[in-house]
Amino acid sequence: MPIYHTLGTIPHKRHTQFRKPDGTLYAEELVSTEGFSSLYSLVYHAYPPTIVKELGEPYSVEPKIAREKHLKHTSLIGFNIKPEDDYLKSRKPVLVNADLHISLAAPRKSMTDYFYKNSQADEVIFIHEGTGTLKTGFGKIKFEYGDYLVIPRGTIYQLEFDTPDNRLFIVESFSPIRSPKRYRNAYGQLMEHSPYCERDIKRPTDLETIDQTGDFKILIKKQGLIYPYTYGTHPFDFIGWDGFHYPWAFSIHDFEPITGRVHQPPPVHQTFEGNNFVICSFVPRKFDYHPLSIPAPYNHSNVDSDEVLYYVDGDFMSRKSVVKGQITLHPGGIPHGPAPGSVEKSIGKEFTDELAVMIDPFRPLMLTEDAIQIEDESYYKSWVI
Ligand SMILES: [Fe+2]
Repeated sequence: MPIYHTLGTIPHKRHTQFRKPDGTLYAEELVSTEGFSSLYSLVYHAYPPTIVKELGEPYSVEPKIAREKHLKHTSLIGFNIKPEDDYLKSRKPVLVNADLHISLAAPRKSMTDYFYKNSQADEVIFIHEGTGTLKTGFGKIKFEYGDYLVIPRGTIYQLEFDTPDNRLFIVESFSPIRSPKRYRNAYGQLMEHSPYCERDIKRPTDLETIDQTGDFKILIKKQGLIYPYTYGTHPFDFIGWDGFHYPWAFSIHDFEPITGRVHQPPPVHQTFEGNNFVICSFVPRKFDYHPLSIPAPYNHSNVDSDEVLYYVDGDFMSRKSVVKGQITLHPGGIPHGPAPGSVEKSIGKEFTDELAVMIDPFRPLMLTEDAIQIEDESYYKSWVI
């Protein structure tokens, strides 16, 4: 996130001697992105972050593709994904392409006996149900319903859940997750017309240095494989850090909707972007106020992008019989629109309490075996009068 942040203790000058009370040196680490060309942080560890003791056998978590090519309006009943005790096992990729993987997860237990690092993708974890704490070396972020946790690649983390009832909607982005460029000024600050600002960004707090040596299992994801590493030092041994590269969170409930006299196009809902896709938030808002306005969306042909909606809560005016956790995928190439009857029914309505996350990828999504198992096969006929 392009806001400078610092926690813990750091030396006055970078790349200079920074010593422990016993006179030995702390270990400096530069965490940089896009080589040395983009956001970075400088981290000071109690021990070098390089002490590898053992390497386990890697295993695949690559999505198994069931439908590579398709041209069918598709719906998945997301809450039919079965809960699993283990966090990593609970993550079920459902819609994937070369730019992003979308997964659903219902983990029951906190991560206690291992740490996880995604070395190739930024992760956006939308908390649909559950509360808890994201724990990292950079500090902690408490999370609750509606939070987007944004965890940049390379961040070692654990999720601690308060209860076993958790539902997560996860995006792995193979490019950095950013705020929309049109909302940032030349200095990176979010501008007045942005639907959220820096004040809404939750940054890590409560840095707690865990100065421990021993055996620490870190599961590292790279190229679809999980590599089990055993390190000799606790990964949360940060004495301090500063910079622009760190995990952060933003609540969908803090997204200020942009409304107008007539129906506003989807980009007003845009919240984040990666290469070749955008993430949007549909939040409770007043409807259009032109005397002849039609609040329901128009039919549209997203000629060159797919469109994924993840229904979170509220009453979805453009669709009937939508359930929480449902996903619709409207592929580029064919038009889609409001369900029969919902256009007329929307006229005169002044407010919607819908809450949803939308992802528009510009390259087609493939469906996985996990997706096929939770598919509502009749969805493509839902416009038949
Ligand atoms: Fe749409």
